[in-house]
Amino acid sequence: MSDSPDASPETQTSPETKAGPPSPTAAGATARSALASPAAPLLARAAQLHKAGDLPAAVQTYRQAIVVDPGFAEAHNNLGAALRAWGKRNEAIVAYQEALALAPDYALAHANLGGALAESGETEAALDHLAAGYLLAPDRPQMGRRLVNVLRRSTPASVTPRVHEALAALVEDPAVEPQSLEPCIVALLNADPRIRGVLDALAAGQPPTVAEAGPPVYAAIAESELPALLAEAVLTDSRLEMLFAILRAAWLEALLEDHPELLPDRALLVALGLQLETVEWSWLESPAEQQRLAGLAERLRDPAARRDGPDAPGAASLALLVYALYRPLDPFYEDAELHALADPAAGPEGLLLYRHLVEPAERERFAAAIPGATPIRDRTSQSVRAMYEVNAYPRWRRLARRPGRRVDLLMPELLPDLRRVSIPFDQRRVRILVAGCGTGRHACMTAQRFAFSQVVAVDLSRRSLSYAAQRARDLELRNLHFLQGDILELGGLGEEFDIIECSGVLHHLASPEQGWRVLCGLLAPGGLMRIALYSDLARQGVEEARAVIREQGLTPTPDGIRAARAAIRALPEDSQARLLAESPDFFSLSGCRDLFFHVREDRFTVPRIAHALEALQLDFLGFELPSEGIRYNYRRRFPEDPEQRDLAKWATFEEENYLTFAAMYQFWCQAKG
Ligand SMILES: C[S@@+](CC[C@H](N)C(=O)[O-])C[C@H]1O[C@@H](n2cnc3c(N)ncnc32)[C@H](O)[C@@H]1O
Repeated sequence: MSDSPDASPETQTSPETKAGPPSPTAAGATARSALASPAAPLLARAAQLHKAGDLPAAVQTYRQAIVVDPGFAEAHNNLGAALRAWGKRNEAIVAYQEALALAPDYALAHANLGGALAESGETEAALDHLAAGYLLAPDRPQMGRRLVNVLRRSTPASVTPRVHEALAALVEDPAVEPQSLEPCIVALLNADPRIRGVLDALAAGQPPTVAEAGPPVYAAIAESELPALLAEAVLTDSRLEMLFAILRAAWLEALLEDHPELLPDRALLVALGLQLETVEWSWLESPAEQQRLAGLAERLRDPAARRDGPDAPGAASLALLVYALYRPLDPFYEDAELHALADPAAGPEGLLLYRHLVEPAERERFAAAIPGATPIRDRTSQSVRAMYEVNAYPRWRRLARRPGRRVDLLMPELLPDLRRVSIPFDQRRVRILVAGCGTGRHACMTAQRFAFSQVVAVDLSRRSLSYAAQRARDLELRNLHFLQGDILELGGLGEEFDIIECSGVLHHLASPEQGWRVLCGLLAPGGLMRIALYSDLARQGVEEARAVIREQGLTPTPDGIRAARAAIRALPEDSQARLLAESPDFFSLSGCRDLFFHVREDRFTVPRIAHALEALQLDFLGFELPSEGIRYNYRRRFPEDPEQRDLAKWATFEEENYLTFAAMYQFWCQAKG
């Protein structure tokens, strides 16, 4: 839910409607000013027709402009855009290519050509042009977004150097959500013969020694964008995880047996250390490993063992970096010299120490400072809270920074089939409640994407709230405020909200409908509500997994959760429960706790939702769907429901496609009146 699809081609702004010619550096415009062209008036006329939707006339006029000035790159680009909108993709591609032949650094034409090629299924060429567009105009958010939208759906075996360069820049780009780059970066690494060879050997049960396998693997990783990604996103590839887990065990052994030559360079240790902190050390550990780890902890009791590695004087020791692959460094919290190294601005090593030594203490301060808004008296709320105080969920690091949009502009993006939504509240002062904000990912997204909003985010768990507050601080969100409280008690808050969002929360209440009713009492007349609930049909695999975990007597301790992951991975490939090993939640301890060990989980069906909406006097506005494919298939199945708002039809659709709502029923509704 980070980068919304954005396939629309762009045209160069008509020179007549701009104060001056587009800047070649900022927008990657053509070398020659559009204003200088004798065909500039024709371009402006064509652009007007194009904007008005008269595509045949626009195409004709762009062509006239090209006759007058054949070297006019903007006219070729805009012609391509009009042709593409008209459904003439192949002709559009030729027009964009003409534009680029005239102006090879024309960022917009690269991006447009990339978009058209992606639609034609020519992913490799598409990525290359989209990357060129992004590298030429990295400050135009659309360029990055267009590239990411294709990247996130592709798992290429190889890409051009330009795409590699763009990937490296995208991982660091604050406008991009790093998690969206993970599938592509991982696919490229998996296709590297140096990695593939080792993975194949592992799959065949013939693990190579670390001395053999290490150097080529380290080299492949160092050449990839993975190290930077590991600091900011969750690695969700089981085969790579298993490879790294085997290497980690070998490094621990090598360290304790004084074979430092078998260790990788510090950069890889640090990158994996950052990853393991994010996923809370969820990877399986053998008893022998845990025994060695105890030996390492003993060694690190001596402050001298924590610093001054011979290869990097003054820095953290290799022993400390290996320890950080297994456990938080909090036993060394008092070590002032280590603290002095904990500086995110000093690079990945400083960041690792910062996340271990500074952030946890900071979260405690945030937790203590968050106001308590309500008592927590309900027994289910108390046990749910206790669970999230141990396993705050979800683990996340960075969101794409986005400018806010007005509600009336944002809603059609979220619900593209909805014909009209009335917004009866003041859009310059939107009051939003996020109920059950957890670690704040959704709340931060909401505070960012709704312009002129003031957001209050409430949760039971202080630990989750402190994580949320830290991320909100990182994102410099000043319109987001956190409170601790129970949804069931929020009626006493005495406030009214224009928008209420409650995502993945109500099904954890003893009576979800009761909590939902409390929220309705806080919603202004005509206010909007976004709800997300588990689907009974889509969660059958979770039920199976929970049965397996119960049979094995596993409990939600870190070791119990690690063992549960191994148990799920050992299930037959085609079982419903085994599919969960691919879900992002599977990769962190808190995610797995939420998935397999929840203290309270209810599930919904479409009829139950319809019944609740009726009882709560809410109008159903539509589902937010995870893929365009679902929307398309529904439209084909039920063409008589163009707004996609008929819940009886959705019930049928889900029965026919039972994983439709695997990412929950996520929908908008509106208070009547
Ligand atoms: C699965 S997490 C979802 C977090 C967040 N909404 C998201 O989408 O990332 C569920 C959260 O709901 C909170 N929660 C559950 N019951 C609640 C209640 N009665 N009042 C307030 N928060 C509640 C939990 O503490 C937990 O943080």
